[in-house]
Amino acid sequence: MIEESLSYDDVLLLPGYADFLPGEADVRSRLVGDIYLNIPIVSSAMDTVTEEEMAIAIALEGGVGVIHRNMSPKEQAEQVAAVKRFLNWIIDTPVTVQNDQSLHDVDDLMKRYRVSGLLVLNADGKLCGIITSRDMKFCSDFSRKVEDLMTPDPIVEDGEPEMGKALKKFHEHKVEKLPVVDREGRLKGLITVKDIEKHQHFPSAALDANGRLLVGAAISPGDLETRLPLLQDSKADFIVLDTAHGDSRSVIEAVKLIKKRFPAIPVVGGNVATREGARRLIEAGSDAIKVGVGPGSICTTRIVAGIGVPQFSAVLWCAEEAARKDIPVIADGGIKYSGDIVKAIGAGAEAVMIGNLFAGLKESPGREIIYEGRIFKQYRGMGSIAAIRQGGGERYQMSKDEDPVPEGVEGRVPYKGNLKPFIYQLVTGLRKGMGYCGCHTINELRNYKKFIKITPAGLKESHAHDVAITQEPPNYSR
Ligand code: IMP
Repeated sequence: MIEESLSYDDVLLLPGYADFLPGEADVRSRLVGDIYLNIPIVSSAMDTVTEEEMAIAIALEGGVGVIHRNMSPKEQAEQVAAVKRFLNWIIDTPVTVQNDQSLHDVDDLMKRYRVSGLLVLNADGKLCGIITSRDMKFCSDFSRKVEDLMTPDPIVEDGEPEMGKALKKFHEHKVEKLPVVDREGRLKGLITVKDIEKHQHFPSAALDANGRLLVGAAISPGDLETRLPLLQDSKADFIVLDTAHGDSRSVIEAVKLIKKRFPAIPVVGGNVATREGARRLIEAGSDAIKVGVGPGSICTTRIVAGIGVPQFSAVLWCAEEAARKDIPVIADGGIKYSGDIVKAIGAGAEAVMIGNLFAGLKESPGREIIYEGRIFKQYRGMGSIAAIRQGGGERYQMSKDEDPVPEGVEGRVPYKGNLKPFIYQLVTGLRKGMGYCGCHTINELRNYKKFIKITPAGLKESHAHDVAITQEPPNYSR
């Protein structure tokens, strides 16, 4: 028997009664374990999509990025650490210097940790001053001691830190850094005015329990021993076992091993596209599963290997299976418009993973290309020849030294500017979909399940037709 399978373009959600406005829809969702996002969107672990800059930008908007693994373990861990450092409430291990060290040391530390000020400790390990790059601006002799130039006896927070109280102190004393100390004057942390302002500017940011941005990192079964300890040290919130065939012994064994050796870190296993594949990953211990075999815009797996599942059905089947154990599903690949996000969540996913739509944004790492007077950005599959040659082939069980048999292409996508307005369009599209279905929350949409199958004529009618578009809207182009 041949089972019917459908892709996003084959279906539509039936509209239903709504007692609220789309803007009131709640788009928070559970990503993995007890990690929640304020918007159900994840950026792909691809070397033309997610590095530190993209991961910061998307987490500030409430989603999350997965740093790709096509770089050394050390570099990947440093990128994760940079995302975690970008935003804090209280920095628990601020960079410090001893009062008798030299300004050379201060300069080195500031450069290494990319900070503009250091807290100064005395020989007893107690806070005795602050030194900033401004203090050193007009000093030409860097062999001088820190204590000669530091500001002694800084204003501190010595009670239970609280945001309103801290803000008041910043204003009252016109300082930008507020060390937190215990009764004996020992340093407990640091609050900066910059962090508080960032929290105010980005009220929807996706945060961990310490007020830092969420970030994930991709690993493969072959490099978990080298990458995982470093990623855990740099405080990655979750790990994605990023493989093209998650329903395989190596991935299942890797999930088991991670759960045994690193039980504290949530694991997303993937990719799978069948009920059985989802079940095996869940039984192995995956805290979430990633679904998608062949839907990616740069993917040629279905053509090269003749396998795959149209993405709507894959998500529907896997989400049904995962729901039995209350395991979240991430629908990975094939999102072309905001309406596809509504369909993916309608099929049961908690979140979608996006590559193509983000590759053209300013924050993506891909190279900018000018072609026939227009700006594009490079976008390539992690299974493309160039990515395999650079070391990304493990996702496709290919080593750097083999003659590549690619499962992806290299290309370009139009340059789209900043992430913020773009993600606003995607999320508002999702909210509109929820409004049309009368679903107040992501969970309601996941359980709505009122789909209709459409014909090619229905799809043609759905798109703009019989008109030459003279002004492209920001959320639609063909
Ligand atoms: P897109 O958003 O449709 O472009 O799909 C992005 C997704 O495609 C990624 O998150 C990966 O799961 C997948 N992917 C990335 N590189 C390749 C490749 O070279 N071949 C097949 N799939 C890929």
